[in-house]
Amino acid sequence: MSKPAALIQWIDERFPLTANWKAHLSEYYAPKNFNFWYYFGSLALLVLVIQVLSGIFLTMHYKPDAALAFGSVEYIMRDVPWGWLVRYIHSTGASMFFIVVYLHMLRGLLYGSYRKPRELIWIFGMLIYLCLMAEAFFGYLLPWGQMSYWGAQVIVNLFAAVPFVGEDLSVWIRGDYVVGDATLNRFFAFHVIAIPLVLIGLVAAHIIALHEVGSNNPDGIDIKKKKDPKTGIPLDGIPFHPYYTVKDIVGVVVFLMVFTIVVFFMPEVGGYFLEYNNFIPADPMKTPPHIAPVWYFTPYYAMLRAVPAMFGSQFPGVIVMGAGVVIFFLLPWLDRGKVRSIRYRGPLFRGWLYVFIVSFVILGWLGVKPTDFLGKVGSTDLEWATLLARIFTIVYFLFFLLMPFYTAIDREQPEPDRVTG
Ligand code: HEM
Repeated sequence: MSKPAALIQWIDERFPLTANWKAHLSEYYAPKNFNFWYYFGSLALLVLVIQVLSGIFLTMHYKPDAALAFGSVEYIMRDVPWGWLVRYIHSTGASMFFIVVYLHMLRGLLYGSYRKPRELIWIFGMLIYLCLMAEAFFGYLLPWGQMSYWGAQVIVNLFAAVPFVGEDLSVWIRGDYVVGDATLNRFFAFHVIAIPLVLIGLVAAHIIALHEVGSNNPDGIDIKKKKDPKTGIPLDGIPFHPYYTVKDIVGVVVFLMVFTIVVFFMPEVGGYFLEYNNFIPADPMKTPPHIAPVWYFTPYYAMLRAVPAMFGSQFPGVIVMGAGVVIFFLLPWLDRGKVRSIRYRGPLFRGWLYVFIVSFVILGWLGVKPTDFLGKVGSTDLEWATLLARIFTIVYFLFFLLMPFYTAIDREQPEPDRVTG
């Protein structure tokens, strides 16, 4: 026996290395028709690793102290060897994470990947999404720029809108009456350890659940129904390794090309990845004229601003914004269609999905802008941007709320027996 083989045998007698390699890679049979949309799961894993590694190096020089934080980031940018690169990798990684995850979720919608038996994959995915939002929110305070400070102030103040306990709740979250040093310290703790730990655990659960039931595919059919009678291997399945490891490497190379172009040539991406106001140190005495979250939160921010205050309270807006995220959890139970993939869905689902995507994008665009940027509707006090945000918020929710009806009566086409490619 060769030395490497002997080593593997030695390990296998103590740890199921080969067994796991087979179960999850070389003998994990995935549908042979994965397409472009199936790159984003492995890319999300890649970005997770990039963020953890670049984050570790940032933490070596960053100071979680309200008096020092902004300066320590400038120090990383100017004086720490390659510090600028590590910081731009991390800031670009944050936005890229959301781009990749939004496309990954869209794939789920296109091919009905959230449907039975993959409900738990979807739920773990949604919990990951919530963690990602928390991670981005906590991380954004750390550079202690104007937008960090005022963004956190606005969001934590939303908790003050909760009836009865709101004021106490917001003080409890901040650890102070305004965002301050105590807030920065706890956000740092959540950002560097608490949330990443949960995130990594959830990603593990996500993939374990996926490997338990098997991947869906662009045809949305179950490849386990047609197996080779001799080997028991699905006829439309191919081993994940080497076929999909090679395919995923192509995705990784293209992704890293885009990633490095952003990092080296346009790390701010016109103020979308890094907001200009955040290059100004936090000033608790000076509110910026226009406070907007980073682009990946803006669809929900637009919903928040669209809902009118009731009895002087922003609470209804907070509820609508929260519902906008949480409603995704219900998808597996709202969809009553018989087929999974968009390829065989009827015109109703297709139409609603396109309308939903457009609403999400328009809400995102409205959320970036100040509410008065389109002027007022006629001679009323209502702003056009607010009116549009209201319309698209309603459309957004109708996609979900009407789903049990339009999916039940939709004119679907029969699914093929075998994958079509
Ligand atoms: C850190 C974030 C995430 C990572 C690392 C991750 C990783 C993965 C990987 C590696 C796969 C298998 C490859 C693929 O199908 O593309 C997968 C599948 C899947 N993920 Fe995620 N995921 C993440 C977030 C999410 C989110 C936010 C959702 C939805 C809310 C989600 C829903 C799904 C679903 C439904 C599948 C099965 C897809 C199918 O078989 O068609 N994931 N994920």
